[in-house]
Order: sequence, then structure tokens, then C-alpha cells
Amino acid sequence: MKLDIRWIRDEFPICRQRFPVPGHEAPQPIRYFDHGASTHPPRIVIEAHKEFLEKYYANIHRGHHNLSMIASDLFDRVAETVARFVGADLESQTVFMASNTTCALDLAAHAAGQRDGIVLTTVMEHHSNDLPFRARGETLAVGMKKDGSLDMDDLAAKLRAHPVKLVAVTAASNVTGWMPDIHRIARMAHEQGAWICVDGAQILAHRRIELRPFGHPEHIDFFAAAGHKAYAPFGSAFLVAPKEAMDEIPPYRPGGGTVLAVTDNDVVFTTGADRHLGGTPNIPGAIAMARALDFLSDIGLDAIREHEIELTKQAMERLLAMDGVAVYGPPDPEARLGVISFNIDGIDHDLASAILNNEAAIATRNGCFCAHPYLHFLLGIGDVSNLVDALRRGDETDLPGAVRVSMGVFNTSEEVDFMLDWIERVRDKKWLGKYDLEKRDYCKPVFFEFQGESGLSGMSDHATARV
Ligand SMILES: Cc1ncc(COP(=O)(O)O)c(C=O)c1O
Repeated sequence: MKLDIRWIRDEFPICRQRFPVPGHEAPQPIRYFDHGASTHPPRIVIEAHKEFLEKYYANIHRGHHNLSMIASDLFDRVAETVARFVGADLESQTVFMASNTTCALDLAAHAAGQRDGIVLTTVMEHHSNDLPFRARGETLAVGMKKDGSLDMDDLAAKLRAHPVKLVAVTAASNVTGWMPDIHRIARMAHEQGAWICVDGAQILAHRRIELRPFGHPEHIDFFAAAGHKAYAPFGSAFLVAPKEAMDEIPPYRPGGGTVLAVTDNDVVFTTGADRHLGGTPNIPGAIAMARALDFLSDIGLDAIREHEIELTKQAMERLLAMDGVAVYGPPDPEARLGVISFNIDGIDHDLASAILNNEAAIATRNGCFCAHPYLHFLLGIGDVSNLVDALRRGDETDLPGAVRVSMGVFNTSEEVDFMLDWIERVRDKKWLGKYDLEKRDYCKPVFFEFQGESGLSGMSDHATARV
């Protein structure tokens, strides 16, 4: 089924955002290709958020007045929406609310930290699905194949050779968009008596997922994701985790809301969703996240995936054929989300991304995408000791990286063509601005004024280039 793109774009106020660019009298529409970092809320989600703030704002679970009871009910229903969306089973799994994916993954690492054994991560993990485990014990990273996909033989060998308690793997790389077969990995992990923790940050809004009931040989034990990558505001995320195990381990962040009883020298902690995350959660954020998931379900995850595959094919085909452009990761668009990282010969990734922004209002991201080991691997940087030494000295001049475009539900084929035309233009060095290649300070040459109606008005130091 085709998406009604015009209706979808109408739903997103950000699609009407414009910025000044050289060569045009009027500000030009933003072409947003940074969905991998964060997505914008559609009107319906903004309204759900605002409605809570205006009509039902109250703390949850502790009040017997109308506002608190309505707020509690709305908040408690978020777990059901999340479970429905990711195919979790609330009989055997608990949905914990968190503030971002990192916090959700840290809770999974806390659970793993209670067990003996080592954690297998992979070279392609975002730091958030690696460092929380490193902080709590021994980890070992599964290697990659030359094309940037996971080396399943290495995974099998490491599972056999070590007392593995958990395999931490992303459902889709935030660098290449490549999607490992998480259910096959789950089966392999379970056969060795290990858990699997899947980082769902990238996949949540782009491809249907089915965690499968606890006890299924290919079920996912831990699954973390955040609303800000699924068209909800910042500050809400979740972890789906095995109920029984989570009820038995010490609370992750004890405090208000996590207890049944406290005496001078004793504490009885509660079980379930309140056990681990003391303090008031982001109630409107969670409610808005649930609304965003419903919005995606209403559009249809399969239709969204189909649309994004089309855009990815269009972009990959041209990028792979483009002289002077290196694209990273497996080339098959069907094996990826709409996430593509590349470099342009002889043009620093910072500069390329800045020109796309400054001269065409094309939003991309560049750098190492919080996945340094994977970037080093993809860029073929074998020995990183010089780089690390330089960074320790405070010298950031030779930071490696790439430019990343990442697609979302409101992107169009015309936007993809426009973006590709501009990549060619950058490759051909046909930019207008004067950029200080020595100082590498590309992003802040001039100021412009926000046109906000609220207190956001003011001067920005992130602006268009001087031309
Ligand atoms: C694959 C992946 N995992 C984890 C994260 C961290 O997400 P958050 O910022 O919600 O903590 C990101 C963010 O870019 C990501 O892409």
C-alpha cells in the first residue's frame, strides 16, 4: 500500500520549516535526513502532549483526585501500547519507562550485572549498547565481515568458547542501517543459556518487530528504544524485560515509588514496572510516545517500510554509482533501514555536511555516530592509537567520520533526488560559500534570527554560511 505522503507531510509542522540559503530570496524548505538522530512529532502527538499539560497534568499513582487518576490511567496504558507495538507479552515481560535508549539499555546492563559470565557485544554497536555492559564486567565484541555485516561464525565461536550470559546487539545499525537477524541470534544465545539484549533505537519506527513470547526459542529478552526516534518528543523511552528476573534483582534506582514499605532499617521493594526507576517519570512524554506509536500503527509499519525501502533504493543506486563517493556497509537496500553513511573524496565530512546545510537546507549528520569501533572498521583505520593520543592531548583536527543521511516517513522521492544532486555538487566543489578549511569552523559564520512566536525567539549561532 502506498503512503499518502501529502497527508503525512501536512501532519508534520516541521515540514513547513524554512531556512535562508544563498541564491534564494525567500527561505527554503528544510530537507530533513537526520531521522536516525531524532524524529519530529506530528501534530497529533504534539496535541496529545499539550492536552495532557493543559487538562490532566498531575503526578501518578499517589493521588485519589480526578487529575491524578486520569493521569495514572493514561500513563499505565502506555505499557500496553508499547507491548502491542513491539509484540511483547505482558504476562511474562515488563515494560519499564526510561528517559532515553541509553538509560533503558543501562537497566538491562544492571540486570545482566547480577549474573556470572561475560557479555558479548558487537563491533557495530552504538556506545549505548556497549559501554553500560563494559561498566559492569567483562565484555567481548563479535567481529564484522568485510562488507560491514556481522560475522555470524565469529558469534557462534565466541558463544561456544566463553561463558556468555548475554548477547547485546542492535536490531539495525545507526551507521549503515544494516539489520542483523536478531531472532537467529536470539536462538543461538538461548541455546548457550544466554540472554539477548536488542537495541531497538533505530528500528522502532521503521520496521515491524515481534519480540515473541518469553519461552519461544527466538524471543528477545531485553528490547530498548526511545520515543524521540519514533516521532515523539524527547525524554521518553522504554525497556521490555523478563518479568520474573527483573522482580528478583535489586532495584536499579531505588527511591520514591519503588517500595511497598520502609522502616528505619528495612525496605520492601515493589515488583513490576515501578521496582527499578525511582522518582517521577516523564508522564506527558510517555503518553505522547504511545500516541506516536499508535500514529505509526495507523499508517501501517509495512507501508512505512515499503516507502522507506523505495527511497533507500533510489539513494543507494545513485550513490553507489557516483564517482568519488564511498558508501559504507552492505549494498543491498533491502537489508538496511534508510540509513546511509558515505564520504566524498577529498572533502572532509564536517565540510560536506555543513555545505549541504548552509547552501541547501539539507539536514544530515556527520562524525562517528557514537559507534567509533564500527566507523574505524568501515573506514579501514586499523591502528587508532595515534588518534586516541591526539584526542587525549586535546587535538581534534583529524577526527575521522562520515556523512549520514537517514530517511523517515515524510521524506519524498523529490527530496532524495535533491539531496543526491547536492552531494554531486559538493563532490564537484560547486559550493558558493567561503569556508575556512584551516580552522575547519564551517558551521557558525553568520547569525540569523529565529522567527519563533514564543520565548524561543532570539539569535542563533548555528546559522547559514557567509557567501
Ligand atoms: C542504535 C542506537 N542505539 C542507542 C542510541 C542512543 O539513544 P538515546 O539518545 O535515546 O539514548 C542511538 C542514538 O542515536 C542509536 O542510534
